[in-house]
Amino acid sequence: MTAGVIGQPIAHSLSPLMMSRWIDAAGLDAIYTPYVATPHMFAPVVMALYRAGLKGLNVTLPHKTEALTLANRISDAADKIGAANLLTFVDGEIHADNTDAVGFISSLRIAGVDPKGKSVLVLGAGGASRAVTYGLKDAGARELAIANRSLGKAREIAREIAPDTEVVGWDNRNGLLDQVDIVVNATSLGLKGQIPLEMEWGQARDSLVAIDTVYTPLETQFLADARNRDLTGIDGLGMLIEQGKPSFEAFFGVAAPQGADIRSLLETKLGEAK
Ligand code: ATR
Repeated sequence: MTAGVIGQPIAHSLSPLMMSRWIDAAGLDAIYTPYVATPHMFAPVVMALYRAGLKGLNVTLPHKTEALTLANRISDAADKIGAANLLTFVDGEIHADNTDAVGFISSLRIAGVDPKGKSVLVLGAGGASRAVTYGLKDAGARELAIANRSLGKAREIAREIAPDTEVVGWDNRNGLLDQVDIVVNATSLGLKGQIPLEMEWGQARDSLVAIDTVYTPLETQFLADARNRDLTGIDGLGMLIEQGKPSFEAFFGVAAPQGADIRSLLETKLGEAK
């Protein structure tokens, strides 16, 4: 059995390491391979791999939106988010799904936080935010607010994904901290090489949980500042691992094995890349 991940760039993807560890732990006769494709070559490469008998592909930047155009069937999550990170080749058809949303929610739950009934502030309105917002809505969050620099993109998410969402300007993002249970960084701020995301945690409720979608570095300034204020911080590595589990099962027909110690494997790899 063969599956893989396609993107550009792809060399730094952690998915092959993670999937290969699960393959070994499950004792499968399978491989999971990275494929690079320019936007122009994305469709022909996917179709060639489909014809070659692959089980499916994870899709990463910049192809997540384009992936939808190749699918015969699109899940509700992929459709609403407007992007697919998973293509499976099933019975002569291509199915598109998005496991980022469910991965985000699982990472919260594993950290002991159930978003059901919670009030959540999402920072950002790009692809990551669309997946996070879809996941939160689906998991029964009570109130959602999105703060973004470009208000139009936040309003679009409110219209297309979560209708009762409050949209706030970027400079007002701290104004809701005394009212929300969870704050999500779904911007690209804090990523290695980008400027950090600065928050004024002083007004936050003591029980507030801060969760990042960024995992390079693992300890962003957003999380470090929240932890310094004694708030709970959850890094972005959990989301990466949890979005991989449903993909593994879709490709290989068995659940990703427990206890494969993926987190420490990936932490070591990220440490080496520093
Ligand atoms: P992704 O797919 O990872 O979400 P993206 O679609 O490029 O990436 O979105 C990046 C997010 O980070 C956006 O919400 C962006 O804000 P805009 O929609 O206004 O562009 C946000 N972002 C990036 N740089 C920022 C900055 N310097 N200040 C505030 N927000 C920023």
